[in-house]
Amino acid sequence: MKEKVLFQPTYFSLFPHGKERHVIEMNVEYKNIKDLPCEELYELFLAVGWTTKADTTQEMLKNFNIGFLNSTFVFSAWIDGKLVGCVRVLSDLHFRSIILDLAVLPEFQRHGIGKELVQRCRNACKSSEWSVQTDKAKRFYEKIGFIEDIDYFLRIPGKWC
Ligand SMILES: CC(C)(COP(=O)(O)OP(=O)(O)OC[C@H]1O[C@@H](n2cnc3c(N)ncnc32)[C@H](O)[C@@H]1OP(=O)(O)O)[C@@H](O)C(=O)NCCC(=O)NCCS
Repeated sequence: MKEKVLFQPTYFSLFPHGKERHVIEMNVEYKNIKDLPCEELYELFLAVGWTTKADTTQEMLKNFNIGFLNSTFVFSAWIDGKLVGCVRVLSDLHFRSIILDLAVLPEFQRHGIGKELVQRCRNACKSSEWSVQTDKAKRFYEKIGFIEDIDYFLRIPGKWC
């Protein structure tokens, strides 16, 4: 599928730097393509600590975007042509949707990109309930409106995770 550029907003973000606050301007382009480039996706997963060079074979690298290709929705964020963020969703397009693999390159975190990626997911299926499993990003999800669920989560481990 040809790349579809949704829009190219300019972000003005504030971030703490010592006691001062500086304004950063970033042109972030959001896309809804599924065939994200394997090498860049791998670099993003490496950067957030989801994989290591030692764990990744050439075969895995060649198919690194397979989970994204087979997902219901994929959104990604780009700055100057570089992949800086991604998210994928498994959804029945009506009742329930699950967020997977939301990641933003560490140097671009805390500038609203993760929040925008999740908002785009939610806009793609407005009636849906949204779920996500996370430990480290719990505070982020709470900040953007997710509520911790006390339901037990049961699983059978697969070949890869
Ligand atoms: C989780 C993650 C995607 C957030 O992306 P991000 O672009 O940094 O998040 P945003 O800048 O959009 O943050 C939105 C809000 O959440 C807050 N926030 C972000 N990360 C936070 C954290 N770890 N703890 C508390 N608040 C957090 C931001 O300050 C912001 O608040 P504000 O609107 O009041 O300014 C990013 O930290 C990441 O890639 N983490 C590693 C991978 C990961 O754990 N992914 C989740 C797997 S499901």
